[in-house]
Amino acid sequence: GLKIATIGGGSSYTPELVEGFIKRYDELPVRELWLVDIEAGKEKLEIVGNLAKRMIEKAGLPIEVHLTLDRKAALKDADFVTTQFRVGQLDARAKDERIPLKHGVLGQETNGPGGLFKGLRTIPVILDIVKDMKELCPDAWLINFTNPAGMVTEAILRYTDHEKVVGLCNVPIGMEMGTAKLLDVDHSRIRIDFAGLNHMVYGLDVYLDGVSVKDRVIELLAAPENSSFVKNIDGLGWEPEFIRALNALTCPYHLYYYKRNEMLEKELKNFKEGTTRAEVVKKLEAELFELYKDPNISIKPPQLEERGGAYYSDAAVRLISSMYNDKRDIQPVNTKNNGSIASIPNDSAVEVSCVITKEGPKPIVNGDLPVAVRGLVQQIKSFERVGAEAAVTGNYDTALLAMTINPLVPSDKVGKVILDEMLEAHKEHLPQF
Ligand code: NAD
Ligand code: G6P
Ligand code: MN
Repeated sequence: GLKIATIGGGSSYTPELVEGFIKRYDELPVRELWLVDIEAGKEKLEIVGNLAKRMIEKAGLPIEVHLTLDRKAALKDADFVTTQFRVGQLDARAKDERIPLKHGVLGQETNGPGGLFKGLRTIPVILDIVKDMKELCPDAWLINFTNPAGMVTEAILRYTDHEKVVGLCNVPIGMEMGTAKLLDVDHSRIRIDFAGLNHMVYGLDVYLDGVSVKDRVIELLAAPENSSFVKNIDGLGWEPEFIRALNALTCPYHLYYYKRNEMLEKELKNFKEGTTRAEVVKKLEAELFELYKDPNISIKPPQLEERGGAYYSDAAVRLISSMYNDKRDIQPVNTKNNGSIASIPNDSAVEVSCVITKEGPKPIVNGDLPVAVRGLVQQIKSFERVGAEAAVTGNYDTALLAMTINPLVPSDKVGKVILDEMLEAHKEHLPQF
């Protein structure tokens, strides 16, 4: 049987993951699930861990759930390590969102200055986890869900010699599910050719039963209610002529770049009313944990669907199962480019359709991206590379460089003001600076 270690086990997403393991138990014999958290998350770990135990008991499966603050005990001889932690919890997220907005710049936890700072806080911790894995479970695969997943995967690939890492996001699977809904067909009939980066991924083609339906889907995507399917981003309609000319499926995060002004305006309005996404999530989380506490509840409560990470368990567990069973099916994940996208460095992380094997994801060769999207993807990759370097070195100038080359930051001067304020606000979680 398999041992899984989940770091950030107190996350409200844990029941989602547990549901995935229960559903696929026949093909993925998990024997031990170790949920790890830190002192600050102890209470959440206990509540959500007990729900996990009830869910498994109800399913009648022999999976042992261990709750621990001892990361090393959890990692020892693990087969798969999944990460879903948030350094500094939701208070840090609120700062990531609010400080940039104060200076008229989009604040978001994976894009712009917010994404940079979440990376600066997270990368030292993830490198530490990898160091522990080298010692305690060197053959285990690390499935990283922790944001900013692109920058974090980049850092592991480029600053450690642990090759067994896959970055995972629910956006690509959500694009498939969303397309199926738009076309009113079962999602198993939809396939998308994905290429790009995390939260900067495009559908280069989309098939229904193997036949391209791209033109139809692009027309449908233009409607405001169809431009975003994730709960954390309210959609805005694309200009139909723009989206037609782009000729690729967008993901919801593209709204921040191709509709920068309109999205910023919306976020500024939320900010002035005192509720950025962090506050919304705090409230949702409190409601969720009230439900999780109820001893009569032994399922994943449907209210979890109000969080942005829908389909996370499907994405994570189908990936682990395909690796374990060497299924060689196609799934979109973040992995080393290795020539999949010609204009991105070979050693960098990309989010592309891959054949999933026992030896890991094998990216499908895309050649190059369409010229209209190539530049933005390269720019975001440069931001992720420089951001990862800043996180590793703690170098101020490098951090300012990362900040300023982010396309959402208007100038070096504004970037510096935001950088200084955020370095100060987050200093307890930035030991490298
Ligand atoms: P959360 O705030 O509930 O944090 C999860 C847990 O991490 C908490 O219990 C916290 O105590 C714990 N934690 C913090 N620092 C830790 C450390 N050093 N070691 C171990 N545990 C630690 O967060 P959440 O909303 O459940 O999200 C978790 C993570 O998943 C975030 O990074 C979020 O951005 C990410 N996420 C990713 C996607 C994706 O598409 N990849 C989707 C949703 C969420
Ligand atoms: C999205 C993304 C995640 C993001 C999350 C936010 O779907 O893929 O990477 O962090 O959802 O959700 P939340 O409910 O925390 O705002
Ligand atoms: Mn994501």
